[in-house]
Amino acid sequence: MRVAGKVVVVTGAGSGIGAALASRFSREGAGTVVVADIDLEGATGVADEIDGHAFRVDVADEDSNRRLIEEVEANFGPIDLFCANAGIAFEGDEQSPDDDWDRMLGINFKSHVFAARHLIPLWTGRGGGYLLVTASAAGLLSNIGAAQYTVTKHAAVAFAEWISITYGDRGVKVSCLCPQGVRTRMLEQGGAVAELLAGTALTAEEVASFVVDGLNAERFLILPHPEVADFMLRKATDRDGWIAAMQRLQARLGLSK
Ligand SMILES: NC(=O)c1ccc[n+]([C@@H]2O[C@H](COP(=O)([O-])OP(=O)(O)OC[C@H]3O[C@@H](n4cnc5c(N)ncnc54)[C@H](O)[C@@H]3O)[C@@H](O)[C@H]2O)c1
Repeated sequence: MRVAGKVVVVTGAGSGIGAALASRFSREGAGTVVVADIDLEGATGVADEIDGHAFRVDVADEDSNRRLIEEVEANFGPIDLFCANAGIAFEGDEQSPDDDWDRMLGINFKSHVFAARHLIPLWTGRGGGYLLVTASAAGLLSNIGAAQYTVTKHAAVAFAEWISITYGDRGVKVSCLCPQGVRTRMLEQGGAVAELLAGTALTAEEVASFVVDGLNAERFLILPHPEVADFMLRKATDRDGWIAAMQRLQARLGLSK
């Protein structure tokens, strides 16, 4: 899919990867770029720079997703590409309060269900549409010290895959973006794992280039860090060896419990 002339929505576009996607789509000639974020000020700043349209959305709230989709379609026409990119990250484990689990599930995963619930009937009714899900390498591998992030990103990958399988023959296309470290506010928030990833971290603009290539090729998995494919292979062919290696890495990072 080429984004030129298309109606595109990016959530979490007030900063980081989402902002870089919105800017890049605009440079690629997208017809309309909707910059959606819970932080309206951030979204407005990005939208003003690219002649886009700012929209306040709380992706964890179904009604807010529905309003976003309905208002964009009413004002700018059918949505061609919806980028479910908003996400949060923090460390946690099984002892974390339920609120932490629920918050992360809402923003990193249920948001995708809410968006799909309102987009899929529109897309299947008119022959298709494109969903880009920003998951993470944590959704394919595991993020040491971050149980909620790992689990919700795995759920995001699984749901993206399921949508692709289920509605592919109705014209719905799906790509799933799974980067490791990207130099955004999220990575700056720190932690030992963030420090580890900093060495190979990409800029958000570099990630946006991989996304444009992935969309052009209509590839499901977009891996800006090619080593993630090697780690996946290792994990798939020797799960016990891979878990042992992750245990050693955890110890080396001083994160053993
Ligand atoms: N930075 C990384 O290293 C990295 C790596 C892999 C995946 N990711 C994923 O990339 C996506 C973007 O993250 P980023 O690195 O650009 O971080 P970021 O913090 O710069 O951007 C996230 C954006 O999401 C918005 N947001 C948060 N909660 C929201 C909500 N409820 N509704 C709407 N918007 C909300 C924030 O206001 C912010 O603008 C996330 O899904 C993240 O998990 C990031």
